[in-house]
Amino acid sequence: MTRAYRSPGPADVSAILGVQRECYPAALREDRQTVEQRIAAARDFCWVAHDEQGLFAYLFAYPSTLGRVTPLGGLFHVQPGGDTLYLHDLAVSRRAARSGAGSNLVELAVASALARGFTHAALVAVQGSRPFWEQHGFVLHEAADTTQAANLQTYPGTAVYMRRQLRSNK
Ligand SMILES: CC(C)(COP(=O)(O)OP(=O)(O)OC[C@H]1O[C@@H](n2cnc3c(N)ncnc32)[C@H](O)[C@@H]1OP(=O)(O)O)[C@@H](O)C(=O)NCCC(=O)NCCS
Repeated sequence: MTRAYRSPGPADVSAILGVQRECYPAALREDRQTVEQRIAAARDFCWVAHDEQGLFAYLFAYPSTLGRVTPLGGLFHVQPGGDTLYLHDLAVSRRAARSGAGSNLVELAVASALARGFTHAALVAVQGSRPFWEQHGFVLHEAADTTQAANLQTYPGTAVYMRRQLRSNK
């Protein structure tokens, strides 16, 4: 089956919400308006995967600053000149689970981050996904202050902030 990866558009939102429903319990889901805002704010930093059966995975990211945690449902405030590509949400439909799609999306995002000069990629790992991110070179990074710790606590269950250094700081 042929797979392709591209940036999402407004017409993809329903399919993205379908994958989100499969991958997250209600407490971790974001609504249509939030997903639309993410695409409008940072389309060039978001990717979807599709094949003959349609869209089956997505990764939403945006330029941020190392140490800054995006709360669940929080808007993407793109930071021009930010040093970190923040990977907010990666999800793969059950029909494509463990077939490399999640890894492919991470590799796309990291390649884009490197090409654009970011020094780090970062994210909040939820639902026991920490080992997946460790396989991709991410390590734990302590919340910088009480604001960031509070943002982390908006995620139910165990949630940890992780970062991967892509190049040395200038
Ligand atoms: C995490 C996720 C994106 C991984 O995508 P994927 O396409 O299935 O993963 P890949 O095929 O690229 O990588 C497979 C390897 O990653 C690891 N891995 C995959 N999913 C994992 C998970 N949920 N927890 C821990 N390790 C995981 C395993 O080592 C796996 O290898 P194995 O199948 O030989 O055991 C996918 O499981 C998912 O969508 N989960 C639900 C949403 C979610 O929690 N996303 C993370 C948000 S931080």
